[in-house]
Amino acid sequence: MCGIVGYIGHRDALPILLNGLKRLEYRGYDSAGVAVHDGQNLHVFKKKGKVKDLENELKDKKIKGNIGIGHTRWATHGEPNDVNAHPHVSQNGLFVIIHNGIIENYKQLRNFLKDKGYQFKSETDTEVLVNLIEYMYLESETDAEMAVRLALSEVIGAYAIVVLAINEPEKLIAARKSSPLVIGIGKGEFFLASDATPIVEYTDQVVYLDNNNMAILKEDEFILKNLANERLNPIIQKIEFDLVSIEKNGYDHFMLKEIFEQPVAIQDTMRGRVTSDASMIRLGGITSVLKKILAAKRFVIVGCGTSWHAGLVGEYLLENLARIPVEVEYGSEFRYRNPIINSDDIVIAISQSGETADTLAAVELAKKNNATVLGICNVVGSSIARETDAGVYTHAGPEIGVASTKAFTAQVTVLTMLSLMLSQEKGTLPYSSFKALVNELQQIPDKISKVLEQNDYIKELAYLYKDARNFLYLGRGYLYPVALEGALKLKEISYIHAEGYPAAEMKHGPIALIDENMPVVFLATKDQIYDKVLSNIEEVKSRGGRVIAIVTEGDDTVIRMVDHVIEVPPVSEALAPLVTVVPLQLLAYYAAVLRGNNVDQPRNLAKSVTVE
Ligand code: G6P
Repeated sequence: MCGIVGYIGHRDALPILLNGLKRLEYRGYDSAGVAVHDGQNLHVFKKKGKVKDLENELKDKKIKGNIGIGHTRWATHGEPNDVNAHPHVSQNGLFVIIHNGIIENYKQLRNFLKDKGYQFKSETDTEVLVNLIEYMYLESETDAEMAVRLALSEVIGAYAIVVLAINEPEKLIAARKSSPLVIGIGKGEFFLASDATPIVEYTDQVVYLDNNNMAILKEDEFILKNLANERLNPIIQKIEFDLVSIEKNGYDHFMLKEIFEQPVAIQDTMRGRVTSDASMIRLGGITSVLKKILAAKRFVIVGCGTSWHAGLVGEYLLENLARIPVEVEYGSEFRYRNPIINSDDIVIAISQSGETADTLAAVELAKKNNATVLGICNVVGSSIARETDAGVYTHAGPEIGVASTKAFTAQVTVLTMLSLMLSQEKGTLPYSSFKALVNELQQIPDKISKVLEQNDYIKELAYLYKDARNFLYLGRGYLYPVALEGALKLKEISYIHAEGYPAAEMKHGPIALIDENMPVVFLATKDQIYDKVLSNIEEVKSRGGRVIAIVTEGDDTVIRMVDHVIEVPPVSEALAPLVTVVPLQLLAYYAAVLRGNNVDQPRNLAKSVTVE
C-alpha cells in the first residue's frame, strides 16, 4: 500500500526522504509528498504522479532541515491528486501527518469536526485524523503526544502514522495499528519507514513497532510507549538483507531480476532445512507445534492473490503426499463468512509481505477460535509473521516488483517441504519415494535455470501475441493453480484480459470463446493426466484456437498439435508447478514490456495491500 518515511537527526532530511520514497515507490505510486521543518518553518510539497515529479518540483528549492516526513500514496479515499496526497496539515497549521491504512469511522469523525468548525480541503481520511489531533491538542490544552493519543483512542481502523507538531519541532511521534512501521536506529538519528527497504542503507538496527504502540523520537532519545501511556522497552533487531539485494543489479526491471533470482531464492528457502543427502527435512520454525500439526483433522490455507495460488498448490501437495484434508480460502472471504474453525484445525496464512490486511484478519479470526496458526511469509518481522503461533520464512529476499514471482516459487517450495516432512511423520509416503522427491527438489534450481535459458525465445513469443485482447490458460491437477497464476501475471502487468481454468472445465463454458483470435496457453507436461490434456488441446485446435504449450523436453506429440511449445526439463508432477510457472512469468513480463507498460509499478495495483 502506501509508503512512509521519516527522518530526525543531524543530516539534511530532504534527500533522505526522497531517496526513501523512491525505494518505497513499489508500495504505492500515484502521488507523493514531503514535509520538512527547518527549525523555523514547515515546508510541505506534494504532487500527483511519481516521486521523480516531486523531486523535479523541489530541484530549485533550497529546503534545509533535519527533521521531516514523506509519503508515496496508493489512493483509497479520494482520487490521486495534489490535494489528496500526503502529508496533510491540520486546519490551523499546528500538525502535519503521513498515514498508511484506513480510518473506518472517518465520516463520523469528519462530521464531528465540521460541527466544531473544521473545513476540509481533501477527501481523505488522513486529513480528518490530523484535524482530530489538532482539535484534541487545542481542546485539552495538552502536549502533542497526548493529543495524538487522545485522537487515536477515537479512531476505528488501521494506521501507521508519523506526526510532526509545529510547537514541538524537535520530535517525531509515530504510532501503529495493523499497518507496519519500522524505526531504524542510527547514531544520533532515527529513520522511520513502512518497511525496512529505505532504512538498510543507513543502519541494520531496527525496532518493529507493535500494534497500539507509539514512539516519540528526538535526535538522541527513543521513547516507546503503548497507547495507554505506559513505557515499554524497545526490542532492537538486526535487518538481514543488504542494499545490493534491493537494487536492480543490471536488470531492466525488478520483476525480471526476481524471475532470474528464482534458482538462488529456492536454494535459500531450502538452506538448512533439507539435508544434503536428501534423507531428512526439518522446519525449525514449526517444531514447537508439530504435535498439534500431526493431530490436526484438517488444514485451512488462507491468502490473497499469488499467495492464494501457492495455497492451491499446497492443497494438492498436502493431500497427495501427507493425506491431510485441506481447504484453501481467500483471506477476504474467510474473514466475513462465519467459517467453522475448530481448535484442532491448523490454519496456514501465506503472504509475501506478511502485511496483507485480509490475510491478517483471517489470522486473527483463526486465533480467536483457538486454531493453531502458521505463517509462510517472506518479510521477516512482518505482522503476520508475528501474529502467528509458528511459521516458516520463505527467505526469498526482498521482492520489489508488484507482480509476485520468486515469492510464489519460494512459497511453493516451503509447502513442498512441509508436505514431504509430514508425509514421513505420518507414514503416508514410502521413504524411497520421499527421498526421490527430496533429491529432485534439490535439482529444481538447476531445472529453473534451464527454463530461464529460453528467455529470448519466450520474448519472441510474447512479441507474436502482445496485441491479443484475451488469453486462456489451462492446466489440470497440480498445474491448474499454475494456469491461474499465469493468467494473473498477464493481467497484472500487460493488462490483457486472461483467465485461468482447469483444462477439463473448458467444455463447460470457456470453449465458446475459442476462435482464431484466442491464444490458449496449455500446461501439458508429462504426468498422470497428460493424455487427457492432449484431448483438451485437440478441442481447442479443432476450433481454430492458437496454442502455446508448456511441455516436457523432448515431447514429440504435442509439438505436432500446437502452434508453439516451450520445453521444461522432466520433473515429477508434484514439483512441476515450480518449473512450469517460470515461462509464464517471462511471457507476461515481455508482453508487458513490449506493450510499453510500467512493469514494476502496474496501474492500480500495490505490492502490499494493507487495506480491506
Ligand atoms: C497484492 C499484490 C499481489 C499479491 C497479493 C498478496 O494484491 O499485488 O501480487 O499476490 O497482494 O500479497 P501478499 O504479500 O499477502 O503475498
